[in-house]
Amino acid sequence: MCGIIAYSGKGDAAILAFESLKKLEYRGYDSWGVAALLANGKKAFSVIKKVGKIGATNSEFVKQAIPEQNHMAIAHTRWATHGGVTEQNAHPHLDCRLTIAVVHNGIIENYQGIRNSLNTPGEAHEFKSQTDTEVIPHYIEHLMQKEGCDFLTAARKAAILIKGRSAFVALNSETGQMFAARKGAPLIVGIHENNSEEFFIASDLTAFLDHTNKVMYLDDNEGLSISNGKIDFFDIETGAPKQKRVVDIHWHGKANLEKEGYDHFLIKEIMEQKYTIAAAINQDDEKIQDVADAIKGAFGTFLVGCGTAGKVCMTGEYLFSKIAKKHVNSVVASEFSGYQHYLTPKTLVVAVSQSGETADVLEAIEIAKSKSAKIVSLLNVFGSTMMRVSDDFFITNAGAERAVVSTKATTAQLAVLSLLAYAAAGRLQEGKLLLMNAASSVNDMLNPRYEEHLKRLALILQDKKDIFIIGRGLNYPIALEAAIKLQETCNIHAQGFAGGELKHGPLALVGPDTPCIVLVANDDAKQDILNNASEVKARGGFIIGISPENDEVFDFWVKVPDAGNASPIVNIIPVQILAYNIALLLGRDPDYPRNLAKSVTVK
Ligand code: AGP
Ligand code: GLU
Repeated sequence: MCGIIAYSGKGDAAILAFESLKKLEYRGYDSWGVAALLANGKKAFSVIKKVGKIGATNSEFVKQAIPEQNHMAIAHTRWATHGGVTEQNAHPHLDCRLTIAVVHNGIIENYQGIRNSLNTPGEAHEFKSQTDTEVIPHYIEHLMQKEGCDFLTAARKAAILIKGRSAFVALNSETGQMFAARKGAPLIVGIHENNSEEFFIASDLTAFLDHTNKVMYLDDNEGLSISNGKIDFFDIETGAPKQKRVVDIHWHGKANLEKEGYDHFLIKEIMEQKYTIAAAINQDDEKIQDVADAIKGAFGTFLVGCGTAGKVCMTGEYLFSKIAKKHVNSVVASEFSGYQHYLTPKTLVVAVSQSGETADVLEAIEIAKSKSAKIVSLLNVFGSTMMRVSDDFFITNAGAERAVVSTKATTAQLAVLSLLAYAAAGRLQEGKLLLMNAASSVNDMLNPRYEEHLKRLALILQDKKDIFIIGRGLNYPIALEAAIKLQETCNIHAQGFAGGELKHGPLALVGPDTPCIVLVANDDAKQDILNNASEVKARGGFIIGISPENDEVFDFWVKVPDAGNASPIVNIIPVQILAYNIALLLGRDPDYPRNLAKSVTVK
C-alpha cells in the first residue's frame, strides 16, 4: 500500500514527483505529501503535506507552494497503518534538525523499540507524528550525530534495523544525497531515456512510464544511493556493490493509464472487458499445456490469492473439478501458513494476483519456496515482484487496472484458469472456443441499453441496508466476489452464500423486500439454485435473477448469455455495473473506496 516516488535530475523535481504521485494514488489516498530539496546551495527542504486524496490538486498548487528551484524530491501517498489520518502523520517525515526527509511504504514492526531507544535521558528526539515511519529519519540523525556515521551508512544501518515488509527513500539536505532501500515492498528505478543522470524511484513503474521505459528492479535487501547524478546499488546488509540490468519495459497489453473520456476508471475498466477477455486467452498454448500437465502431475496444487483474486482461486477449484476432474486446493493467501505442512518439492503453488505485489501472497510464496515447492503465478502487472520470484508466470493482458475495485483483471484471471482446466482435461481447443464465445457475448452485453437496465435496478437497491447474493457450483465463489464488489464500491452490507447454506442460518435475516441476487447458469445446479431463490421469496425476499433465462421466481431479471462453463465470467459483469451505478447514486467515489488501497503491500 502507499505510493512512493522520488526524483533526481535536472528537471523541476517537486512538479515531476507530484505528477508521478498522481499515478500512484490508487495505492492509498489517506494523505499525500512532497519534500523538495532546494537548489543553489540552500540545503533546506520545502515540504507540502495534505490530508485526503490528491484528486483535482494541480501542479500550479505545488508550483506556488514550492516556487524555488529544486532538482531532488520525494513524494508519498499514504494508506495509514500506524497513526490516524492527519497532516502530522502524512509523509514525508523529517528528523529534529530538518535535514533528513523520508517517505516509507509498509510497516516497521519494531518501531516502538526504536522510538524508545531514541528517547533516553541523554538524547530526546522530538517526534511529531504517531507513525512508525518517523523513527527512520530520527534514527539516521542519531547515527550521524552520535556515532559519526555519514548519511549513506546511517541510512543503510537504519534499513538493516527495521523489521517488517517495507521500502523507503531518504533525502539529505546537507549532502544532497538520496538513499533508497527495499525490504519486502516494491521499488523500481526509471532512468531517463536520454539522460543517464535523471532518475525516478517508485513503488510502481506506472508512476514514471510517461518519462521512460528503461527500468532497473531493486530486489529485497538491496539499496541504492544517488550522489552528484550518479546511481550506485548495493546489498543492504554488507554494503557490497551490486550490478543492475536495465530492462526495456513495454506493457503487455494496452497500458491505458488514463480515463479516456469515461467519468471513472471503474466504468472504463468494466467496459474494457469487451476485449480484455479475448486478450487474456491469447496465451502460448504450449505453456498452458505444460502448466496444466504440471498441475495434473503435482503432489498437491494450491491456488493462492487474496480478496477478489482469492475468489478467482476458489472458482478455479470448481473449474478443475468440473472440467478436469482434478482436485486442486484454493487457499486464502493470508491463511496459507496453516497448510505449510502439506508442502513438498512436488507441490505446485499457483499464485493469482492482479498487482503481483500483494504481501500476503508474497509471504505464501516464500513459505512454499522454503519447502522447495514450484511457483507459477497468474499476474496482470509485468515485472512485478511475484513475476520475478516465480518459476513461471502468465500475464493476464488486461492492461493497467487503476480502479481499486478489480473488474477486468478478475475476468481475465478467470479466463486463464478456465484455459488451464480445459488443458488439464486434454481439451484446450474446446476451452479456447468456449472462452472466445464468452468474450464475444460480453462484447454484445456491454451496451448502453444493458447499463440502463442495471441503472433501474440500482435505483431499487440504493437504499437497502443488506444485499444477499447466492450461487451454487461455479457460481458460489462468484456470489462471494459479487459481495466484495458491492461492499467496496457502495459500502452496503452485501454477503454471498452457497445457495444451499441459507436454510442453515442466514435465512433468519431475510425479511420483507430483502434483496437477494441469484446467480444462475444453465448447468446442473440450475434447479437447485432456483429452489433456493424460492425459499428466499417465500420469506418476502426480493429476487434479482442474473440468468440466461427468465424465471417466475425473479422479481427483476438481468439477462446474461448462456456461456456454459464460462458462466462465472459473464455473471459477475452485471454486478460490476450495478455496483458502479449504486455508488454513483450514493455519491461514493467508485475509483477510491473508503479505507482501501489497490496494492495491499502490508500483511
Ligand atoms: C478487488 O476488488 C479488491 N480491491 C481486492 O480484494 C484485491 O483483489 C486484493 O487485494 C488482491 O489484490 P491483487 O490481485 O493485486 O493481489
Ligand atoms: N506505516 C506507514 C504509515 O502508517 C506507511 C504506510 C503506507 O505504506 O502508506 O504512515
